[in-house]
Formats: sequence, C-alpha cells, structure tokens
Amino acid sequence: MVEPVVVVHGGAWAVPEELWDESLQGVKAAARRGYGASIHCYCGVLTAGGSSVDAAEASVVCLEDNPVFDAGTGSVLTFDEQVEMDAIIIDGTTMEAGAVGAIRNVLNPVKVARLVMEKTDHIMLVGDGANKFAAAHGVQEVDPEVLITSLARQTLAKYKKYTSTVYHLFNKTEKPETSGHETVGCVVVDREGHTSCATSTGGITAKMPGRVGDTPIVGAGGFADDQVGAVSTTGHGEAIMKACLARHITSVMGTGESVKSSIQNGLAHMESRIKGFGGAIAVSCKGEVGTHFSTPRMTWAYIQAGKLHYGIHPNQHVTEDL
Ligand code: GLY
Repeated sequence: MVEPVVVVHGGAWAVPEELWDESLQGVKAAARRGYGASIHCYCGVLTAGGSSVDAAEASVVCLEDNPVFDAGTGSVLTFDEQVEMDAIIIDGTTMEAGAVGAIRNVLNPVKVARLVMEKTDHIMLVGDGANKFAAAHGVQEVDPEVLITSLARQTLAKYKKYTSTVYHLFNKTEKPETSGHETVGCVVVDREGHTSCATSTGGITAKMPGRVGDTPIVGAGGFADDQVGAVSTTGHGEAIMKACLARHITSVMGTGESVKSSIQNGLAHMESRIKGFGGAIAVSCKGEVGTHFSTPRMTWAYIQAGKLHYGIHPNQHVTEDL
C-alpha cells in the first residue's frame, strides 16, 4: 500500500507579486479537488474505473477553470489574438496516453485529451480534427471570448509593442520578458501505486498560429509509468521538447535517485545543454514527492497523509493540516 498523493503546479515563470496569492489559492484548491476525487475512488464511491486518472483530470480541470493560470480560461494569445490550447493525460498503469494540440473554443482541453485516450486508437489530435472530435463526443463549444482575460490581451499588446521597437533593433537576439504565464499540471499516485499525469496549457504569448508546444508530447510535457512514477513539466516548450524533460526525469528516478534530485538533474541538463528554463512536479510509484524549478517562481501544492504542502518561491515549503 502507498500513501496516496496529488501534486499540482500552476506554471514555472516570473509570477508577479500581484498574482502570488491568487495563484497559491488556485493550486491549493486544485490539489484538494484531485485529492477528494482520489479518496472517493479509494473508498469505492466512484464506479469501477475511477482511478488516479480521475484525480489528475479533476485537478487540471480546476486549474483550467481558474483564469489566473495559462490553461483553459486564462490562456495566453497567439500572435493573431486567438486561443489555441494543448493538453495531455497519461495513465501510468497501462501507459495509455491522450493529447490535443492547438484546440480552440473548449473550456477543458484535458477532458478532450482523456476522450482521445479512451475513445480512439490515437494519442494526439490537433486543430480542427481535435475540435470536430470533441464536438462529436458532446463537448460543448464556447465563444472564444469566454477564454480570454484582459491580462492575456495586455500581455500580447505589450509583446507586440516590444517586437515593433526594441526586439528588432537588437536583431532578435533579445527576447521580450512580457511573454509570461505558464502551463498547469498534476501528478498522482493512488493507494495501489497507480500513477498518472495531466498537463494543460494555452502555450506562450504571441506564438505562431498552429504552434504546438511540449505539453501534449509524451515524454516532454508529461510522463507516467507505474514502474517508476509520474511527471508533469512547465517552461519553455521548445526547450522541453528538445530535452524530453519528463522522460529524462523519470529515467533518472529509475536509477534510484530521489525524486527531487531527478527533477534538478533534468532541469540542469536542459539549462546547460539548451539554455532552457522551467519546472516540474513528480511523484514516485512509492509516493515520494518532488517539486523544483529553474525559473524565478513556480506555484505548486500537494496533499498527502492529512497535510497540505505548498510554495511559490525557491526553497519555500509551507505545510498545513488539512
Ligand atoms: N510549456 C508550454 C509551452 O511552451 O507551450
């Protein structure tokens, strides 16, 4: 028997002070949502088939519905002012995966990712194909405006102003620092040692239409295998894809390294080899938890053995009774 745990993150980036409190409240609520789901599964309240996957999905839906995060409602905007979202979910018991890329006009991409996992022979659907599949499975289309926050509009406007001035003067060697916001995710291990991960994002501000990042890629945005554990990553997608960050971290975990140092190893490799920055959460199949980031901040929270743990700053770890 394993002490079950639900770990969530709200993205690794330079979270500004005015968003600290809201982001922390958001990850705490998401951890509670997933943990409640997993406890219900364990107690048999849900019908057969309820699992760590239910908990991961429930937590990520909670994060997608919270406009403070760059996923679902609150997603950042493409260069042409649209919302295009990516998501993945993986069942570590079967290693089945489902993912969507550049999906539009749905509230919860992670739910569509789960449908892809369970209802198709494929792993990833993108663009119009993903939207048509979602509609065929009863997922309601929403007005794109519902997903867009004023912060997303302001961030894109700032980016465009920057690119039309400084960025070009520096021959594109300098990147604007206004493209903040990041991905959300969750990893779970239940009492039987079944693991899962889910990750969801609106991507990066001013991305090209049609750009798909790391989030829906198995081994980059997430990975889960009951023989080792589960990982969800956040950060610059192009770097995370090159580093296969989630798979890198589980490979190191598989050598017997602690979960935290496995994440540190993955992030150090990504930084030294590709100059990429980000963060990750992970849990081993035995219930050991790790969180780490190479960006200025990352909101995270987890619940295990009656305690709620959370943090946002480097080396911050607060513990409360549930
Ligand atoms: N990690 C999110 C993205 O780059 O799309």
